[in-house]
Amino acid sequence: MGHKTWLILAFFTCLISSSCGRELQVKHKDNLTVYNHTLATILVEYASAVYISDLTELFTWTCARCDGLTKGFEVIELIVDIQNCLQAFVGVAKDLNAIVIAFRGTQEHSIQNWVEDLFWKQLDLNYPGMPDAMVHHGFYTAYHNTTIQPGILYAVKKAKEFYGDLDIIVTGHSMGGAMASFCALDLTVNHEAKNVQVMTFGQPRIGNAAFASYYGNLVPNTIRVTKDHDIVPHLPPYYSYFPQKTYHHFPREVWLYNLGLGSLVYIVEKACDGSGEDPTCSRSVTGNSIFDHLNYYGVDLKCEQWRSCRIVMDPGVAKYGKTDLKGNFILSRDPAKHVLKMNTRSNEGEVTSNA
Ligand SMILES: *[C@@H]1O[C@H](CO)[C@@H](O)[C@H](O)[C@H]1NC(C)=O
Ligand SMILES: *[C@@H]1O[C@H](CO)[C@@H](O)[C@H](O)[C@H]1NC(C)=O
Ligand SMILES: *[C@@H]1O[C@H](CO)[C@@H](O)[C@H](O)[C@H]1NC(C)=O
Repeated sequence: MGHKTWLILAFFTCLISSSCGRELQVKHKDNLTVYNHTLATILVEYASAVYISDLTELFTWTCARCDGLTKGFEVIELIVDIQNCLQAFVGVAKDLNAIVIAFRGTQEHSIQNWVEDLFWKQLDLNYPGMPDAMVHHGFYTAYHNTTIQPGILYAVKKAKEFYGDLDIIVTGHSMGGAMASFCALDLTVNHEAKNVQVMTFGQPRIGNAAFASYYGNLVPNTIRVTKDHDIVPHLPPYYSYFPQKTYHHFPREVWLYNLGLGSLVYIVEKACDGSGEDPTCSRSVTGNSIFDHLNYYGVDLKCEQWRSCRIVMDPGVAKYGKTDLKGNFILSRDPAKHVLKMNTRSNEGEVTSNA
């Protein structure tokens, strides 16, 4: 996607999805979060980079996806939960004046299987402290009951001690978007973080209407980007006849879709209403595409190749790490300290696990 197309697109967004003036009014009335296209194109690059399995490149921010709009990012902690095949990082983006936390999506042999399973996820866990708020336990525990949560909290604390009270931006794609949401809620409710900002890409539904309502009030600064026919935001299903009983997205959705005008195709970015389930957004089309799920804003959101949960690491960087008894792994360093020069040639360490 070239820059030009996006410029045209910004114009069309205003033109088509109601006039810009009206959009502002709506925002004022419902206090909806403002969607910032520039920020979205930056954050999607973080959500893409967290898929990288070469931990040396990721930790030192030298991977091919670590260039571009995220240049200069300082990773403070990289957390790899081998048991559950999860990966996340926390770092400081000085240009955004923020701590950025990013979660990787699922890394399974078959994304098809993962998507099919999404149909059957139950609302089987009451979110602690929120009466009537039900969520799916798998998404909840992936963040809360793994090495991910303590790793994130420790890194955020460390970054704040060093840099002062930075903003916090949480992002993730797919399953990583679900984890990002739970993380933002946790930071807000349990750890006194203020104005946590969230932007997710192609995330599934994670809870019921009561949960969405709590979430919307507690983490209002949230944008949930969906795209074309991406199937994942349609799952687990929403049944409009039983709005209180089924899964329900929280606001605010921004739906990206193609608009054909003759031989030209434009991408429209539609800012949706404050309900979380705007019938004129993603829900107005059939969710039937995995292809649409794997690329947002022209950026790939998947591993370089699907394979078992695997990490690749240079011994030079391994000394920044600690491993627990179960093989879970955290790379950590003090803010603003340079990582020693890596030995990039020889001795590529490799740890393989079939989680
Ligand atoms: C929106 O924000 C204004 C000012 O901060 C506040 O007075 C009002 O109650 C808010 N409205 C809603 C619907 O939250
Ligand atoms: C959108 O985000 C970019 C990047 O953080 C920032 O520089 C810009 O000021 C923001 N625009 C608005 C209108 O807030
Ligand atoms: C998470 O772990 C705690 C402590 O091990 C346990 O008490 C709790 O039931 C677990 N929660 C879920 C939803 O599995």
